[in-house]
Amino acid sequence: MKRREFIRNIAAAGVGVLVFRSTPKIFAQTVPGRIEILMDEPLGTISPNIYGHFTENLSGVIYDGIWVGENSKVPNVGGIRKELIDEMKKINPAIVRFPGGCFADSYDWRDGIGPVEKRPRRTNFWNGGEKPGAPDAHRYDPNRFGTNEFVQFCRAIGAQPYLAANLRSLPAQEFNRWIEYCNSPAGSTTLADMRAAAGFKDPFNVHYWGVGNESWGCGGNFTPQEYAVEYRRFTAWAPGYPGADLSFVASGPNDDKWDWTRGFLEEIVRKGKNEVRGIFGLALHYYAWNLSRGKTSDWNKGKGEAVNFDEVDWYELLRQGDVMESLIKGHWLAMGEFDPEHHIKLVVDEWGPWYKPGSELTPGDQLEQLPTLRDAVFSGMTLDTFNRHPEKVGIGCCAQLINCLNSLYLAHEDRFCVTPVGHVFDMYAAHQGGTGLRTEFSVPAVHYDRDGQTASFWGLQGSASLHGKELVLTAVNPDVKNPIEAQIAIRGARVKSGSATVLTASDIHAHNTFEQRKAIVPTTAQIEIKGDAPVFRFPAASVVKLTLALA
Ligand code: AHR
Repeated sequence: MKRREFIRNIAAAGVGVLVFRSTPKIFAQTVPGRIEILMDEPLGTISPNIYGHFTENLSGVIYDGIWVGENSKVPNVGGIRKELIDEMKKINPAIVRFPGGCFADSYDWRDGIGPVEKRPRRTNFWNGGEKPGAPDAHRYDPNRFGTNEFVQFCRAIGAQPYLAANLRSLPAQEFNRWIEYCNSPAGSTTLADMRAAAGFKDPFNVHYWGVGNESWGCGGNFTPQEYAVEYRRFTAWAPGYPGADLSFVASGPNDDKWDWTRGFLEEIVRKGKNEVRGIFGLALHYYAWNLSRGKTSDWNKGKGEAVNFDEVDWYELLRQGDVMESLIKGHWLAMGEFDPEHHIKLVVDEWGPWYKPGSELTPGDQLEQLPTLRDAVFSGMTLDTFNRHPEKVGIGCCAQLINCLNSLYLAHEDRFCVTPVGHVFDMYAAHQGGTGLRTEFSVPAVHYDRDGQTASFWGLQGSASLHGKELVLTAVNPDVKNPIEAQIAIRGARVKSGSATVLTASDIHAHNTFEQRKAIVPTTAQIEIKGDAPVFRFPAASVVKLTLALA
């Protein structure tokens, strides 16, 4: 089965049994390594938007995850879970995408505005995958959380809204009207008056607009050429208002579908080579799901388990994650064929591992999974990859923020925890707005047995950024057994002092739950300075951030 068919069928999923296998780091050998940070090779500014999030109206993401309601016993700010707001404020979440995903192309934005008691209930796009006994709000969208509430959420956490418009089942007129509702000046239009009646006199000034989602599949099943025509129709003369330049994100390829990138852009420039100037970004979706070690490409059979995995599965997931770099480079090259000046950025607005069902903390939550240390290493690796390509990646949105796939947070009723992925976002927030610097890692590869054949994976990778006199270096050590002692040579500067933050555990399956919220949390460690160069021991299976003060 392919992902496209999965989404078509949205099947009910069974709940499995979790088995924890610990991997004691015995026989560990310290591996020597070297990191060189090249101060005179800037890569560009690391946009805070690379550290974005995705919140789809899917099962427990909105209802229970974000929205608990004003009258809930769960502490809330205007109906939004307070603990989520408090945690998110720590990570500077620059941008949040809503309402989908596939849901977006079934959503009528008009249902989610106006007096709450008059808002209609609609069958949720993901209804078919909900289990018997699922909360009503997961099956039938009460529309209690709409545009106003989403913008309130964004304001509470200090993020920009990124709205995904319905291109499959609403006309372009409604796209224009949604923009008008959000951005038309106070008192200027009937929609501005409706916004004011809801308590929002001033415009929301939404800049980022997705024009459909996965238009090759759930978003309309278009060919790239057909979609390009629709994209043009939707965006031509979309209403602009003072204070909100519109940045359109076109629905882009799934993983390595170069044909989509080429086909879409070829059709766009057929109308004129300057047409690319009106496109802010091309969305790229990439999920790491096939842990079958090359045995199948079946969407269901190929997936692995979130918590019950062995060491080879650990490396297999990281191998899948490592593909991100080649996707960024490959699509960028293809985009350059039609947009040689690179006006269009890549918007990786869905990324993360996708496992079989069975690890949900809230049984029944569709697509919820329990992130472990493995997912933290995966996420650190992905964010480092984005940091290494600041000129290419304009936005990144981890899929998804809460109660779904690679979540930073898990919540149910009054219970809440930060996952290891959430801790990585907290650590990596320090890169935002910095100047990416070329950084070379020279560390021996890790070798392991992959079903009777020796396989290898790089030994240490990461990224560095400069913020005035402060240098931030992040890196992941994928080796499940061996720490790496690396000397860090900074070409063109001298380090005065430094501090380290480390996320690791003695068990590669480590994860947090509602009962054990702090089973895995970052710790601080010492950095030794030998001569002019800092030396750091990157523990096995770890995500590390070094903050270095320059002389
Ligand atoms: O994140 C879950 C789903 O995965 C999204 O709705 C869709 O865009 C993708 O296929």
